[in-house]
Amino acid sequence: MSYNLLKGKRGLIFGALNEQSIAWRVAERAAEEGAEIVLSNSPVAVRMGAINTLSERINAPVIAADVTDVEDIERLVDGCLEHFGGGFDFVLHSVGMSPNIRKQIPYTALNYDYMSKTLDVSALSFHKILQVLHAKDALRDWASVVALTYLAAERAVVGYSDMAEAKAMLQSIARSFGAIYGRERHVRINTVSQSPTMTTAGSGIEGMQRMYDYADGVAPLGNASADDCANYIVTLFSDLTRKVTMQNLYHDGGFAMTAFSLESL
Ligand SMILES: NC(=O)c1ccc[n+]([C@@H]2O[C@H](COP(=O)([O-])OP(=O)(O)OC[C@H]3O[C@@H](n4cnc5c(N)ncnc54)[C@H](O)[C@@H]3O)[C@@H](O)[C@H]2O)c1
Repeated sequence: MSYNLLKGKRGLIFGALNEQSIAWRVAERAAEEGAEIVLSNSPVAVRMGAINTLSERINAPVIAADVTDVEDIERLVDGCLEHFGGGFDFVLHSVGMSPNIRKQIPYTALNYDYMSKTLDVSALSFHKILQVLHAKDALRDWASVVALTYLAAERAVVGYSDMAEAKAMLQSIARSFGAIYGRERHVRINTVSQSPTMTTAGSGIEGMQRMYDYADGVAPLGNASADDCANYIVTLFSDLTRKVTMQNLYHDGGFAMTAFSLESL
């Protein structure tokens, strides 16, 4: 059902790789709510091709950009400004990758070149994107920027490895940039801390199925799906949440606030 919450709004969505991706679901839901969208992903992900199906379905152009490369981000933001004929209203950062996790390197033996890559792709990229948006004055007043994060930023989750440090940095960037961009342009910046979700990135985490089942048992409302997440993020892009900024917002069925549940014991 559409409420036209994003009618007249225009946004940029990073990270739709395939139908399981959280960004894919957000893009579909935002389009249903009346938004005009530009999609972006890394050149290699764009070459894989699935994103073109989404692009056709929601009538959104795809502009490839490696989020670690400032020149790529500049080209992308220029492309959005040209496509929209001016500034835009929302941005989703739904990007994460750890070579240490991919190569199953234990946390006690991290490769630091890989860790730098983890931090660059998964956290610094958020600053790079915000810095380019700010320099080009690409966001309209009351625009909303959301990045996806996970509870391991604040609580130890064995198996999440150096992505925990990346998510802690990502959340900090949301606060630091939010303090400046809010005052200057009323731009709000938040992170959404999502339940374990079966996606390409999610499935790379060691013990993901057990983590997923455990969280589902502990959370009073059960795990939040990618579609639930899309619904929530649409509200954050809408004008109904204009005074929410610099927050880390848990979207996890209540998991983060539950010590234990009798059902899961
Ligand atoms: N799946 C989960 O359990 C879960 C839980 C909480 C938070 N998150 C976060 O949600 C976000 C989206 O992940 P997802 O679960 O939808 O998985 P996903 O694999 O579908 O999305 C990750 C995306 O990052 C993109 N990416 C990687 N390197 C890139 C680069 N250099 N430049 C541009 N894009 C690049 C990938 O192409 C992919 O589209 C991530 O930040 C992830 O950490 C996921």
